[in-house]
Amino acid sequence: MTAANNTVSIEKLNNFCIEAMLKAGMSQENAQITAKVLVATDTWGTFTHGTKQLKKLLKNFRDGRMDPKAVPEITKQGQSWALYDGKRAMPMVSSVKAMETAISKAKATGIAYTVVKNSGHYGAAGYYAHMAAEADMFGLSMTNVDPCMAVPGAKEAVLGTNPIAYAAPGGKEKPVMLDIATSVVAASKIFKAADLKQPIPNNWLIDKDGLPTTDPTGYPAVGAIMPMAAHKGYGIALMIEILTGVISGSAFAKDVPCWVLEQPEPVDQSHTFIAIDINAIMPIDQFKQRMETLTGMIKETPKAEGTNEIFLPGEIEYNHKQKVLQNNQITLPKDVMDSLKGLAEDYGLESQTLFS
Ligand SMILES: NC(=O)c1ccc[n+]([C@@H]2O[C@H](COP(=O)([O-])OP(=O)(O)OC[C@H]3O[C@@H](n4cnc5c(N)ncnc54)[C@H](O)[C@@H]3O)[C@@H](O)[C@H]2O)c1
Repeated sequence: MTAANNTVSIEKLNNFCIEAMLKAGMSQENAQITAKVLVATDTWGTFTHGTKQLKKLLKNFRDGRMDPKAVPEITKQGQSWALYDGKRAMPMVSSVKAMETAISKAKATGIAYTVVKNSGHYGAAGYYAHMAAEADMFGLSMTNVDPCMAVPGAKEAVLGTNPIAYAAPGGKEKPVMLDIATSVVAASKIFKAADLKQPIPNNWLIDKDGLPTTDPTGYPAVGAIMPMAAHKGYGIALMIEILTGVISGSAFAKDVPCWVLEQPEPVDQSHTFIAIDINAIMPIDQFKQRMETLTGMIKETPKAEGTNEIFLPGEIEYNHKQKVLQNNQITLPKDVMDSLKGLAEDYGLESQTLFS
C-alpha cells in the first residue's frame, strides 16, 4: 500500500462517514454531528478512537443494541445540571448535546454538570472537553466502559478503562487538553505486542492468578489490564463509575455490557460532562494571559539530556491537527483504512472514491 492511497481529504472522509450513517438509518443532522466528532479525532492523530470506530458503532444498530432513530432527551434537570436519557441513540450525538447543555447552563450559573444514561461507546473523551474550551470554559468529560481492568489485589477485571479528559483555554488560543484512559495502557497495545510475539512491561497485565505478567498472548481470555499508577488510577476510574453509571441509573462496573462483543443486551454505558464558566470568576482575557505564563514556565523549563521539546497536554494533537488543516488531507493508518473499507462493504459504498 503506497502513501498516496491512504491519504484522504477531510471533506471526503466526512462525507463518506455521513453517507454510511444515512444508510444505517440516522438523520442527516445526527450523521453530521457524529462525523464531525470522529473526523476531528482523526485530525488529532487519535486514530484508535476516530472514524475507525464507525463500522463497529453501526453494527450496534444492526444488532439492535443501539437505535439509529432514537432522540436523546432530558428527563430531569435543575438550573445547573441535567440528566439525559440517551435512549441508545448514537453516543456522539447524546454527548455533544449534553456538553452543549452543560455549556449553556454554565453561562447562567457559572458551573454545570450533565450526565447521559442509556448510551454506548462515545469515542475520545477529549472531543467533548474541548467543546467547553472552545466556548472559553473549562471542560471535563468522562465515561464508564465495560470491565477489562483489575484493581490492586484483584485477580480479574472489575472496572473499565474509564477515560477522563479535561480542556482549558490556553494562551495564544491553544487549549490545554489531557485525554487519557485510567488504565496503564490501551488494550490495543497488548494485542499488538501479542501479534509481534514481544513481551510487555510487567506493570501492564495480570495473569490468571492476579500476578503481573510479561506475556501478552493469553489476553483477553485470561488476565486483566492494570490501572494507571496503581491505586491512583483505580481511585479515579471508580470516581468515574460513581459520576456516570451509579448516579445516572445506568449499568456500572462488571454489569456494563461490552459494546464490541456479540452480546444481546443494549450497550448501556454512561457519560458525564462538566463546564465551568471562567469568565464568571475572572475576565477570560486575564485567565488566558495567566495560562500563557503557566504554560510558558513549563515549556521553558530546562530540558533533560536528549529532549528537544517539552510538550503540554494536547499539544501533540494540536500540532497534528494544524498539519492536517494546512494540507487539507489526512494520512490514515492501515487499520483505519481497513475498517473504512469494511464499512463501505457493509453499506454498499464505493470506498475507492475516498482515496481517489
Ligand atoms: N470511549 C472509550 O471507551 C475509551 C476508553 C479508553 C480510552 N479512550 C480514548 O483513547 C484515547 C487514548 O487514550 P490513552 O490513555 O491511550 O492516551 P495516551 O496515553 O496516548 O495519552 C494521551 C494524552 O496524553 C498527552 N500526552 C502524550 N504525550 C505527552 C507528553 N510528552 N507531554 C504532555 N502530554 C502528553 C496527550 O496530549 C493526550 O492528552 C483517548 O482519546 C481516550 O479518551 C476511550
